[in-house]
Amino acid sequence: MKVGGQNYRTIWVASDGVSVEIIDQTRLPHDFVVARLVTLVDAARAISDMLVRGAPLIGVTAAYGLCLALREDASDPAMARAAKVLEATRPTAVNLRAALEHMIEHLRSVSIAERAAVAYTLASTLADQDVAQNHAMGQHGLELLRSAARRNRAVQVMTHCNAGWLATVDGGTALAPIYAAHDAGLAVHVWVSETRPRNQGAALTAWELGHHGVPYTAIVDNAAGHLLQRDAVDLVIVGTDRTTRSGDVANKIGTYLKAVAARDCAVPFYVAVPSSSIDWSLDDGARIPIEERASVEVTHVAGRSSSGGAVAVQVWPSGAAVRNVAFDVTPARLVTGLITERGVCAASPEGLLGLFPERSLSSLR
Ligand code: MRU
Repeated sequence: MKVGGQNYRTIWVASDGVSVEIIDQTRLPHDFVVARLVTLVDAARAISDMLVRGAPLIGVTAAYGLCLALREDASDPAMARAAKVLEATRPTAVNLRAALEHMIEHLRSVSIAERAAVAYTLASTLADQDVAQNHAMGQHGLELLRSAARRNRAVQVMTHCNAGWLATVDGGTALAPIYAAHDAGLAVHVWVSETRPRNQGAALTAWELGHHGVPYTAIVDNAAGHLLQRDAVDLVIVGTDRTTRSGDVANKIGTYLKAVAARDCAVPFYVAVPSSSIDWSLDDGARIPIEERASVEVTHVAGRSSSGGAVAVQVWPSGAAVRNVAFDVTPARLVTGLITERGVCAASPEGLLGLFPERSLSSLR
């Protein structure tokens, strides 16, 4: 995507050929800052402190984190230790585990001398695959937007959190169909909710839609139900951190409430799911680990002061008891369809296996 006329991905190998650069998403929307990751610890911190976030980007950052670790020590025990450090950073997005498993499976049979170099190639292939999958989801989702279009009004899409290009290497998942529609000349408008506590909607989705010229309107999270009731929304599209083989969807906290309201109002609710976010080992969304984060994200709101500096403003009384649950699970029955890189399917084992037959148990025998 373009920022200030220059093409950017969210992560890339720096000009020294080894360190890794990222867009520091904790500084958006007010400052565009590139941060450099040199060590395993840098990469792990970037994920846990959310300089990078969004399931697909977390996975690719972990892959590059392993590359940085292997430059220091490429032995089997060091590789296993590095993977453990990276896997512990954030528990819900399955992309993290999947990327590390993929890397290690390939690297095990590579000589120690060649491991780091091969790891960079594998990580860059994962990055390119993410971009290709997002492009394909954009094209499949575009057809849904075309079908939802009504005469004399832009297609009204509601989303949640940030599942745009900032959450991926490039292109986005839930926002990919919106960019595809906008680029194809189909009028589209997005309802962007803040997404407390970290406000990824306000800080990131609004920022990237604005840069691409896609019209959007800012709303508070609690306005979603009212807008759905009043026919202001044609379809909801969200991303996912982990979708089970049965089609249960873990995504940013608040997704479930939007799904319930969408069902009550008969508004289609779609989830953009790259195959890297499908956990084929789980049948039941209740078994997805749900991350709980620091209470300061709830008690304080981060922003910019009128003099231009970064500030955190306390909004709860000191000493308030806090539970900061970062994700929830929307049951498959509330999901109208899953947009994958292979097409759109029902949120069910049959739907997913229809598109990914190589994942059926019988094909594994
Ligand atoms: O806590 P975050 O910002 O990493 O959560 C991000 C989301 O919930 C996204 O919707 C999800 O990762 C899908 S991103 C394409």
